[in-house]
Amino acid sequence: MCGIVGYIGKKHRAQSVLLDGLRRLEYRGYDSAGIAFHDEKKVISCRAQGKVAKLEQKVLKTEKEGVVGIAHTRWATHGKPSVRNAHPHRAGKIHLVHNGIIENYSLLKKELEKKGHVFTSDTDTEVIAHLIEQENKKYDFEHAVIRAAAKLQGAYGIVVMHADEPQKLIALRESSPLVLGIGKEAFILASDASAIVSYTKRVVYIDDGEMVVLTPHEYHVENMERIKQNKSEEILQWDEKQAQKEGYAHFMLKEIHDQPHSIADAMRGRIDVAHGTVKLGGLASVSDRLRDIKRVIFVSCGTSYNAGLVGEYMFEEFSGIPTEVEYASEFRYRTPIVDENTAVIAISQSGETADTLAAVREAKSQGALTLGIVNAVGSTIARETDAGIYNHAGPEIGVASTKAFTSQLVILALFAVLLGRQRSLSLVRGKEILAELAKIPKQVEAILTQEKAIKKLAKKYAKYENFFYLGRKYNYPIAIEGALKIKEISYVHAESYPMGELKHGPIALIDKQFPSVVLAPKDSVYDKTLSGIEEIKARSGKVLVVTTEGAKEVKRHADDVIILPQTIEMLTPLLAVIPLQVFSYYVGVSRGLDVDQPRNLAKSVTVE
Ligand code: M6R
Repeated sequence: MCGIVGYIGKKHRAQSVLLDGLRRLEYRGYDSAGIAFHDEKKVISCRAQGKVAKLEQKVLKTEKEGVVGIAHTRWATHGKPSVRNAHPHRAGKIHLVHNGIIENYSLLKKELEKKGHVFTSDTDTEVIAHLIEQENKKYDFEHAVIRAAAKLQGAYGIVVMHADEPQKLIALRESSPLVLGIGKEAFILASDASAIVSYTKRVVYIDDGEMVVLTPHEYHVENMERIKQNKSEEILQWDEKQAQKEGYAHFMLKEIHDQPHSIADAMRGRIDVAHGTVKLGGLASVSDRLRDIKRVIFVSCGTSYNAGLVGEYMFEEFSGIPTEVEYASEFRYRTPIVDENTAVIAISQSGETADTLAAVREAKSQGALTLGIVNAVGSTIARETDAGIYNHAGPEIGVASTKAFTSQLVILALFAVLLGRQRSLSLVRGKEILAELAKIPKQVEAILTQEKAIKKLAKKYAKYENFFYLGRKYNYPIAIEGALKIKEISYVHAESYPMGELKHGPIALIDKQFPSVVLAPKDSVYDKTLSGIEEIKARSGKVLVVTTEGAKEVKRHADDVIILPQTIEMLTPLLAVIPLQVFSYYVGVSRGLDVDQPRNLAKSVTVE
């Protein structure tokens, strides 16, 4: 969701550091942006509707710099995108940026209005600024912030500045991410490390219920009882280059092309083909518990949910453990029945998705073993689960998930083999899977050589407003992911179904204007999928088929074909999703859309 940044330092560079931070955090939300900094005389505040570039034009005109400041890029929850709703929000001398949702804001607002506070926005955030201002009438700045926080219900990462205290910055976290970067002559606070990494790799992760107080010279962290907390510093394992476009037109395209490497990185050092085994260091501490697991539940959202659906097929086939996949947003409200022999596995690129985090907490409170498959190192889900596996995909900036998804699939395949080998999966089968997995990076590279041809197909199909995405078994989740991708990037209506379901109703929609993208690799359900294609053709529907080498029959019925290299059935999703990502990308580009920052979306959904 929203991106927040704070800066305090010995040098006057608040404005430039904050703007740079906003540019890097823009993928979290981009409907408006704002900044406030103290030039040691007064607070200068600028807000703009739209992208950070618009704000930048306004800010540069001020020709001022500061030693302390706060900034924000917004993904609207309460109140339309507009200048009046953009952060920082102000109440008297209090200036504040917020990421999250204040659930009891309307009640608090009414109480504050009775006390004479006048509100100028439609946001929940403004309430926090007024609450602090109210408390600050009796208590000092720090104390006022703590007292205000005690009245809030909901999720918040906030950074607060006081017009009379230019030597101080305060931040607070409750269920919304906050990282402190420790530089040589400055501190930077942000909702994620991407705003920090170019200044310093030394970071402290702020936990729920903690407040950090910063001056240009030092910082300390307290809990809500004002007891100082000992926090350990960590070093970010990020290469700044990974978060740059490197000559590609968009992050999404760059990240699609990263996949031969990111897939290799997800398995690097983890497979022992000769012994048909897998080493997942992050699970070592729970290896005994894993042997006793009788049930697995994946909890996740969006693309990560789709990865879980592939994982369900893999786990049931190779480990024999009953497996379910739940939308994290539903799991917590469904009275889930789990016990100590259930592994609840959270899949999350960002490791900060509020729904997934809540599902983890719910599962933990009921005694389940909680595990994470997470890309963002040090993120909340990674820290709160009992154990886990990192994707090692590097930062994913494009809002549409691509390389994180394929790295999730690699980890799920490894995990299935690990659990299977602990149970009844044979050495021979284990070896075969791992040998095939090792070939995937080169096969993805080969698929990407078809980019031009897929681009041509995208141009041809870009005129349609409706699509079916169809697949069976392992590739049904890929149909769902393909449909999600084209919806996100191209604003095209796309529905996904298991091919077998088409004839039970949806086929009524098929006509010349309603094309279908069908996943039909030569696997155990190939013949059944062929029958489905014939049914579509019989109703004049256009069919774009993604199939594998040697699948001759399918070509006879398809209008267009994309050919994948051959692999074993469980790994076809890793190959089949690649052309669908490229296809969605180019449909979006053909339609002249901003594929890296699609409308209404944000990269990391940290509100419920
Ligand atoms: O960071 P997470 O993997 O937990 O995020 C989950 C979803 O919000 C995310 O996958 C979303 O669906 C993406 N926009 C997909 O492209």
